[in-house]
Amino acid sequence: ASPCASGLCGMYSAALSCREQRALIRFKTTLMNTLMDVLRRRPGWVEVKDEGEWDFYWCDVSWLRENFDHTYMDEHVRISHFRNHYELTRKNYMVKNLKRFRKQLEREAGKAEAAKCDFFPKTFEMPCEYHLFVEEFRKNPGITWIMKPVARSQGKGIFLFRKLKDIMDWRKGTASKKLPSLEAQPARANTNLSSSHDTRCSDDQKDELPVENYVAQRYIENPYLIGGRKFDLRVYVLVMSYIPLRAWLYRDGFARFSNTRFTLTSIDDHYVHLTNVAVQKTSPDYHPKKGCKWMLQRFRQYLASKHGPEAVERLFRDIDNIFIKSLQSVQKVIISDKHCFELYGYDILIDQDLKPWLLEVNASPSLTASSQEDYELKTCLLEDTLHVVDMEARLTGREKRVGGFDLMWNDGPVSREEGPPDLSGNSVTNTHLGCINDRKKQLRQLFRSLQMQKKISS
Ligand SMILES: Nc1ncnc2c1ncn2[C@@H]1O[C@H](COP(=O)(O)OP(=O)(O)O)[C@@H](O)[C@H]1O
Ligand SMILES: [Mg+2]
Repeated sequence: ASPCASGLCGMYSAALSCREQRALIRFKTTLMNTLMDVLRRRPGWVEVKDEGEWDFYWCDVSWLRENFDHTYMDEHVRISHFRNHYELTRKNYMVKNLKRFRKQLEREAGKAEAAKCDFFPKTFEMPCEYHLFVEEFRKNPGITWIMKPVARSQGKGIFLFRKLKDIMDWRKGTASKKLPSLEAQPARANTNLSSSHDTRCSDDQKDELPVENYVAQRYIENPYLIGGRKFDLRVYVLVMSYIPLRAWLYRDGFARFSNTRFTLTSIDDHYVHLTNVAVQKTSPDYHPKKGCKWMLQRFRQYLASKHGPEAVERLFRDIDNIFIKSLQSVQKVIISDKHCFELYGYDILIDQDLKPWLLEVNASPSLTASSQEDYELKTCLLEDTLHVVDMEARLTGREKRVGGFDLMWNDGPVSREEGPPDLSGNSVTNTHLGCINDRKKQLRQLFRSLQMQKKISS
């Protein structure tokens, strides 16, 4: 049996043998999950350990923090994060950057354009915006809020509340963890945090921060329910460069369901309100075989059957807008470096009006598989990520599609080649989230035509 999941080994080796560049690609990683499987079976790639030299490093963010600034990298070397990825992937910074970008858009392009950034729930950084939060809290008595540590994952440290008293308890709890007292700390910018910015950890790792900041966020009380259950979407976006912004959207992803019927009466029950797989897995009625996921294709079909294709198109266009606006909001802040790429995991919640909300962006989306289907999705996602990163130098740079990835933004919107403009005369953007992912066929055609071109030109 072929050790290569996509069955493309023959083609790889042919392509590799005619390459003039490096004979072998030396890779390194610390993650022992689907990623390791994909890297180890990639033809022409060899693993290096410890201090060995590498061409490709899928590192964790803690390595980045300690080593990136004093690591020399050759032209061809690639690494799996941008130096200050946390500008997008820490909950407080993401919101800060989005708020700033919205203001900038309002100044430069007007209110209508700025309103396109209204996809994140009202959020305050705690404790530094505590007083602003209280003001807002008092305006809307009775609504539900969610408190989330800015840099943890897997639902850890999260709680919901409706009374200010609950925040008092939290303040007492965090005060004992050396947080400065609120009275001594008026609302201010984040500059004092710059040395600890970079503490977001992977879904697969469980380190925690010594001192914790939180965000208080408006809880979406009317999530779209399927079978009475809440869910959110996990979607993958690959950024190859920030200046110019070049971003790819993966066709597959999944909806993560809660096991327990949704209700607003038990706000302390995490099994009802948090859709993280790490949370749901521990629920007494979790079935490992059934899992708690739906692939995006199934989700899209379900919605189309309930609401018709136009409503679904609109929803998915709104989701595309979230990717683009959130990336643009950090475009000038992220240190763009040709050695870096990043595979983000977006968490998106849909409400009963079919409006999508951005909850957070993960720098290290879980690459651990929870079922066979999940294993397939993640290994294919990673194989295609490596195709786009293109250590083998096979692509021309003009591709709009590579396997399950569609080029969504290339210093501007990318339009689909085929098909007429939409009803308002706009060209349709090149995104296919939740659509058929015939990646194997596409890859076969792509690599065949690349080989032909190479033959002709040599
Ligand atoms: N504002 C919100 N409204 C409704 N549900 C939310 C909200 N924020 C988070 N959640 C729920 O909590 C889960 C965890 O929140 P998230 O922001 O993704 O933090 P984590 O880093 O712990 O995954 C989400 O997957 C979602 O189910
Ligand atoms: Mg999350």
